[in-house]
Amino acid sequence: MCGIVGYIGAEQAAPILLDGLSRLEYRGYDSAGVAVFDAQAGALAVHKAKGRLQVLSDQLHGGATLNSTVGVGHTRWATHGAPSDVNSHPQVSRSGKIAVVHNGIIENYTELKAFLVAQGVPFTSETDTEVVAQLIEYFYEGDILAAVGRVLRRIQGAYALGILCADCPGQLVAVRKDSPLILGYGQGCNFIASDVTAILRHTRRVGYMEDGELAVLTREGIQCYNHLIQPIEKEITTVDWEIDAAEKGGYEHFMFKEIMEQPEALRRCLSPRIRDGEAVFEGLSLPPDLLKHLHRIYIVACGSSYHVGVVGKYHLERLTRIPVEVALGSEFRYMDPIVDENTLVIVISQSGETLDTMAALREARRLGGHILSIVNVVGSSIARESDQVLYTWAGPEIAVATTKAYTTQLALLSLLALWLARELDTVSDEEYRATLAAFQELPGKMEEVLSRRDDIQYFASQYFNHNSIFFIGRNLDFALGLEGSLKLKEISYIHSEAYAAGELKHGTISLIEDGTLVVALSTYGRLFAKAMNNVVEVKARGADVLSLTTQSCREEVAHTADAVMTIPDIHQLLLPCLGVVPLQLFAYYVALMRGCDIDRPRNLAKSVTVE
Ligand code: AGP
Repeated sequence: MCGIVGYIGAEQAAPILLDGLSRLEYRGYDSAGVAVFDAQAGALAVHKAKGRLQVLSDQLHGGATLNSTVGVGHTRWATHGAPSDVNSHPQVSRSGKIAVVHNGIIENYTELKAFLVAQGVPFTSETDTEVVAQLIEYFYEGDILAAVGRVLRRIQGAYALGILCADCPGQLVAVRKDSPLILGYGQGCNFIASDVTAILRHTRRVGYMEDGELAVLTREGIQCYNHLIQPIEKEITTVDWEIDAAEKGGYEHFMFKEIMEQPEALRRCLSPRIRDGEAVFEGLSLPPDLLKHLHRIYIVACGSSYHVGVVGKYHLERLTRIPVEVALGSEFRYMDPIVDENTLVIVISQSGETLDTMAALREARRLGGHILSIVNVVGSSIARESDQVLYTWAGPEIAVATTKAYTTQLALLSLLALWLARELDTVSDEEYRATLAAFQELPGKMEEVLSRRDDIQYFASQYFNHNSIFFIGRNLDFALGLEGSLKLKEISYIHSEAYAAGELKHGTISLIEDGTLVVALSTYGRLFAKAMNNVVEVKARGADVLSLTTQSCREEVAHTADAVMTIPDIHQLLLPCLGVVPLQLFAYYVALMRGCDIDRPRNLAKSVTVE
């Protein structure tokens, strides 16, 4: 996720752009840049720098060194191309006449880049965005809107674009598809922004661009167009948020905002990787010998990323029949792991900086394993030290308690398991296609779960005073319970334990007494009957049972449990990815009712860079 700001008016543009970007840094902060029209030179002036926005702002003395009244700015969350000056936005065309800032992913950029290179167009960056700038110039014949329209008919993916052309400095062009972009209507000035926050101090009159729409901003006004470049009227609304609230898009906490962003994050993560009925991992090439002799997979991670691995073990072993061991980063080095050149080591980390996980990666490499990492932060240490890296593209995750990074990691690992099974020819065509179809249903079904969040809030209001809560489940539901329990612990400070439901009777059931809250997870149909037996066991000892199951099992569960949360039925491979959302919401609402500091829980840090 990145931040975009654009301005055209009578004031100096650069300070306005830098101020706007500073309010969007939560959207991305590994590099930043601005492009303005320098009237004296009759050309665009582009300044960009790796690192936090302050680096750029210092170089530009807060914008004072740039004399211009029109420009675009960008703060980056890298997806294609590690953070660097050259990969920062704005990206410019070969002549420097066109400058583009972009939030999103151009899915077909490699083929478009190949076409342009074949036309002799030189490229300077590794980004997908540069393809847009070069393609606009390729089609430009004096009408910037027409050229942009031709480009939009060729690019695929998610994009919010801000475009400047040196030939028409009195205009700023904006485009929106799948990535948010807002229009700001000022007095003698107009704006574009990724989020209201960036422009709220200048205007409260905004228009929300819809998918496929374009806009041409001038000092006098904003003309919008549909995807056929036909003029349309836009509704102008007045924002009543205060600035600090808008930082979180109107949500009270970053954690809740990131819970709600999960469907969009999953689309960004999955849509470039499911094409023409195939799972596609561009750039992923496991050594042929490894695929041929692969006899063991390790998954190494910490915390929630470790919980992703526990789910992944079930999927990988069922689909590929390769033995999988899941190890905690802090334990891996000391367990004399059995790793050799025929071992695939999957390292999972949102931050890409967790020292326990990094140390395990280095040990696995020393032993000769092939390192494939699943990471959210592009260019992070773990990403750089891996043989191969798959980015989740979840966008910056600010809350300490991970949500969208967890679900995108899990979706990516589940898709990788399916892809590997295909490579190893251990999955039937029929199951492969049915499973792939389920991935495309996932974001929509997650939106359905989120739409019923008030139900979860009600359950939280019934149980937030408990001091000890058990999460029980079998197989995939046990793995799901691990994450549900950790979410609750880390933000509500309630003691909680996830337990394999079948194991409870071997000792721990002695802790169940009148009023003990047990969150019983029974989404996995194959073991539903046994899971229900375990609910009866704890009920018989006085437990209050809050169940989570699929909609098709709701009636049966309601006969036994005291309360029932449900998720839509979905392919078993994706049950934990969908089932974790009610548990994230439950933890969030319980912590809210207990007055906890949800985004900054005590004793914790977003990235644990100590052993
Ligand atoms: C999860 O909510 C916690 N913040 C924590 O367990 C986290 O998952 C763990 O520290 C691993 O972090 P990483 O994914 O950045 O490596």
